[in-house]
Amino acid sequence: MEILVASEIRERGLGHVDLIGHREVHFTSPDPAAATRALPTADDVLLVAAVLHGIGHTKDDLRHLTELGDLSWAPRRPLDVSATVVGARRFGRYDVEDAVGAYLSSVLGVPYHSRRGGVRPPPGTTSWRVTIEGKRATVAVRQADRPAHRRDYKRASVPGTLHPPVAAAMVRLAGVGRGDVVLDPCCGAGTLLIEASSTGARLYGADRDPAALRAARTNASGLGLRLLHADAGALPLRAGGVDRILANPPWERQVPARGTLAADPTRLWSELRRVLHPSGRLVALLHGDAPLEGWHPLARHPIRVAGAEATIVVAALRSG
Ligand SMILES: C[S@@+](CC[C@H](N)C(=O)[O-])C[C@H]1O[C@@H](n2cnc3c(N)ncnc32)[C@H](O)[C@@H]1O
Repeated sequence: MEILVASEIRERGLGHVDLIGHREVHFTSPDPAAATRALPTADDVLLVAAVLHGIGHTKDDLRHLTELGDLSWAPRRPLDVSATVVGARRFGRYDVEDAVGAYLSSVLGVPYHSRRGGVRPPPGTTSWRVTIEGKRATVAVRQADRPAHRRDYKRASVPGTLHPPVAAAMVRLAGVGRGDVVLDPCCGAGTLLIEASSTGARLYGADRDPAALRAARTNASGLGLRLLHADAGALPLRAGGVDRILANPPWERQVPARGTLAADPTRLWSELRRVLHPSGRLVALLHGDAPLEGWHPLARHPIRVAGAEATIVVAALRSG
């Protein structure tokens, strides 16, 4: 996902990418507030307070995390801190959080709410983040009230519903254009199509489960989605009429395949080959690094989804 976020920053002209690290992309933007709103592939967008170098492995290194320089610009609101520490150290994430939290609290004169032991901070706190990777620590603060991955539209859900930034990345990889016919054959709560709704495409979603279609209808209200109660292995669509397919099929983990796909999961891919236009493109999220039989792969992007290895595959029809 880091590579996909970096390419979105570049392609949208949101700023200059300075660093791609473990679960973080640093960029310099002339308009951070606009960049925060315009980066749907990012889980969260934060303002960097400091990048510190020379962080070692001992507890003594924690005091370097408070070398944050001038903080007169920082929000003066109760705060919480969450940390990610990559690699083995003689301190843990809560040690990092409490060291930075106590310091910020004393400098800014605001209460600090520790997450130690899994305690959730109360609503309304300003969230700070610390990432330690190698000898580098990044200390950053969220400007928005909540993480960028939370979407207002997601009022109804289904098991296995997609994380919106992953859906946004799939839409970008599909290269959806205005007027394109876009199909999600197993649409669930509609995340992929809703993330594609700003493209001006004609959006079709199918699902065999009426509850999933109800969830999609709730989430996509007013967006003009065409929702079909249909089996993805036997779609009521003419051959070659679809320009882009966005697929997050059941993985047999949280969500079982039903109907024709329960008997023969490969049926999905042959039916999608039938409905896709010869110049069309498929973007599918697959469990593990499964090959996509019968398709011409254009790109594969390994990612983690709900703790599992997955791959976003971009593919076209095989010619001939
Ligand atoms: C992983 S979920 C999709 C989640 C969706 N992308 C979202 O963000 O909510 C897979 C969906 O496939 C549907 N499904 C299972 N078998 C199907 C079939 N034969 N035809 C169409 N949909 C099917 C399930 O009802 C479920 O909604």
